[in-house]
Amino acid sequence: MRTLTAIAEVRAQVRLWRHSGKRVIFVPTMGNLHAGHLSLIEAARAHGDHFVASIFVNPMQFGPNEDFAHYPRTPERDARMLREAGCDLMFMPDVAEMYPHGEQRATRVEVPGLSSILCGEFRPGHFEGVTTVVAKLFHIVEPDAAVFGEKDFQQLTIIRRMASELCMPVRIIAAPTVRDADGLAMSSRNQYLTDEERARAPVIYRTLQVAARRLSAGDQDHAGIERAGIRALESEGLRPDYFSVRCADDLAPAQADARRLVVLSAARLGKARLIDNIQVTR
Ligand code: PAF
Repeated sequence: MRTLTAIAEVRAQVRLWRHSGKRVIFVPTMGNLHAGHLSLIEAARAHGDHFVASIFVNPMQFGPNEDFAHYPRTPERDARMLREAGCDLMFMPDVAEMYPHGEQRATRVEVPGLSSILCGEFRPGHFEGVTTVVAKLFHIVEPDAAVFGEKDFQQLTIIRRMASELCMPVRIIAAPTVRDADGLAMSSRNQYLTDEERARAPVIYRTLQVAARRLSAGDQDHAGIERAGIRALESEGLRPDYFSVRCADDLAPAQADARRLVVLSAARLGKARLIDNIQVTR
């Protein structure tokens, strides 16, 4: 596996591969890799010949009171895990390489509407940071396809919309959420939980499952399902930002008879903000 920090070197390597007819698949990450990330590489394997992963803790997607400074950074361990997973190139730029004029003055990419609902309401500017960095990474790596986890369902939806509207020649592949045995979706931010909080955290997935079962059984009382979800999370001491039944294609509030749905939730527990979702087809 090559480890590169310069944009020009990444371009040169990927172009060589592509000129020899190889398909290049890209997995963007912020590092501190866990089994969830490795499953993205696994999902990539079926679609291409060479695999590129980026590790970049993107300051633009963190709010002023968020965890940018403390976000766990484990580059050596990440490199080892990527090598073992069969990754060919790890791109690990520094902030100056990605934002040469400073992050504040950088050209930005925004997907309006979708970026200001759900998590966007509670993390203003977050998705603009995500779409900006992902657009840049797509231009740098020029992959045939890129893999994103369904755990960040809103992010996945926004990136699909961006790639489609900006005519980016990159196929977006969705990879299923990886969970611990008790159902908690894997996330680097789970490390912020104390043992006692970690024991309570699976209530998010359990509550989403209850909602999904009601929807699958034909229950069309979405507002009632959302209220019950908020109550269940609060009863375990979580502070939910939202618990919401949405249309899975565009995250619009779901019509009573909609068929492809997603239930999404974000809740705070101690120092962590946890997100999860379940898709339902009925
Ligand atoms: O999902 C993430 O880890 C990040 O939002 C991403 C897509 C790597 C952009 O920084």
